[in-house]
Amino acid sequence: MTETARPMTARAAAGPLSGSVRVPGDKSISHRALMLGALAVGETRIAGLLEGEDVLCTAAAMRALGAEVTRTGEGGWTVRGRGVGGLAEPDSVLDMGNSGTAARLLTGIIAGHPIFAVITGDASLRRRPMKRVTDPLGQCGAAFWTREGGRLPLAIRGAADPMPLDYTLPVASAQVKSAVLLAGLCAPGITRVVEPHGTRDHTETMLRGFGATVDVDRREDGGREIRLTGQPELTGRSVTVPADPSSAAFPAVAALIVPGSSVTLEGVGMNSLRAGLYTTLREMGADIEIGAERDAAGEPVADLTVSSSPLTGVDVPAERAPSMIDEFPVLAVAAACAEGTTRMRGLAELRVKESDRLAAIAGGVEAWGALVEIAGVDLVVHGTGAPPRGGATIATHLDHRFAMAFLVLGQVTAEPVTIDDGGFIDTSFPGFAELMRELGATIEPA
Ligand code: S3P
Repeated sequence: MTETARPMTARAAAGPLSGSVRVPGDKSISHRALMLGALAVGETRIAGLLEGEDVLCTAAAMRALGAEVTRTGEGGWTVRGRGVGGLAEPDSVLDMGNSGTAARLLTGIIAGHPIFAVITGDASLRRRPMKRVTDPLGQCGAAFWTREGGRLPLAIRGAADPMPLDYTLPVASAQVKSAVLLAGLCAPGITRVVEPHGTRDHTETMLRGFGATVDVDRREDGGREIRLTGQPELTGRSVTVPADPSSAAFPAVAALIVPGSSVTLEGVGMNSLRAGLYTTLREMGADIEIGAERDAAGEPVADLTVSSSPLTGVDVPAERAPSMIDEFPVLAVAAACAEGTTRMRGLAELRVKESDRLAAIAGGVEAWGALVEIAGVDLVVHGTGAPPRGGATIATHLDHRFAMAFLVLGQVTAEPVTIDDGGFIDTSFPGFAELMRELGATIEPA
């Protein structure tokens, strides 16, 4: 729990949810916009930046590394960068709060600069593995010191003459891929990363947008090979951040399960490497209309109109997991309200998120009164076609997505659902309870 825990309660919505809203900016793209802005020459103007705590940690870190980062209005920020290889040594510890993405991508950036830095984070982040980035980054010439088990705090002595890396990812992780590519910016020659399954490609797309040469080959087995030409001159640019599909998932599932609802979510990022939840929900029978398809910052975006629908259990293939890796808590909510069994395959990576999400989802689903099993690395939820009864107080394990998923479920349970701490929701979705209330949901401080 946070130091001053903010318990919250959700009660069954009084009627259908309706309205048209825009959820906050994409977290992954917001981190990268600030980081690439700091590594570029000239000014980067960002519109629609997510002003959640995770991203504010990245803004503070970029300032500490010598970039000029200024807030110009709501979601409007400018960054005057130092150029690739030009970041300065920070004079204090960099605290990345709750954000694994910020900590891991920053480790990659610092590894390529001849500077010393120390990274730490909150209790959740200090439990998460960093070896997955320090192992490959050590090969470029950087040195790392961590606590037992490769945990934060992490001290880094970046490489004076970084070597280009050639790395095959052992796990499908956009964070590890991105850390390697960001270190490779400072190295001469080609940095090559091979990933077993495609993971979100915002780093590649945005690096190209800032002027780097990045070539991608898709392999027949679903993997990808990415080659970055090192030491590019990145140039500041304008970035319009799409609404976050991972945040849109919460009002979307609420609209599906509260009878009679119809909700429009505006300008949602629809990158196919992020949209696995929407594919899965449609397979379950969800009525999701995708309209006004357009482009923002090189990313496809669309307006989604989601109408309440009877849902049926489905089998979610393991290959789809990377494209919906943050959406399993809310998919479990949909599955618990669906008719029949939903099997979510290949979820080993959920064990190392903001909490052990595999165990936490299973425990939570059971506490509501739904039937659930963990079978190896699969999560199996047996839905009855009616909402579970609710009634329990749920421990959120410092996990924002977990907290929001339970508050969504509470919109349809016979008894209220209380979470022990909603404070962490601000890491990714500031204004969540207000936005949900605007649509007609019942979410209040407990
Ligand atoms: C992210 C990648 C994912 C995701 C995280 C954001 C990113 O983590 O869970 O919320 O912005 O690169 P992994 O790459 O570790 O799966």
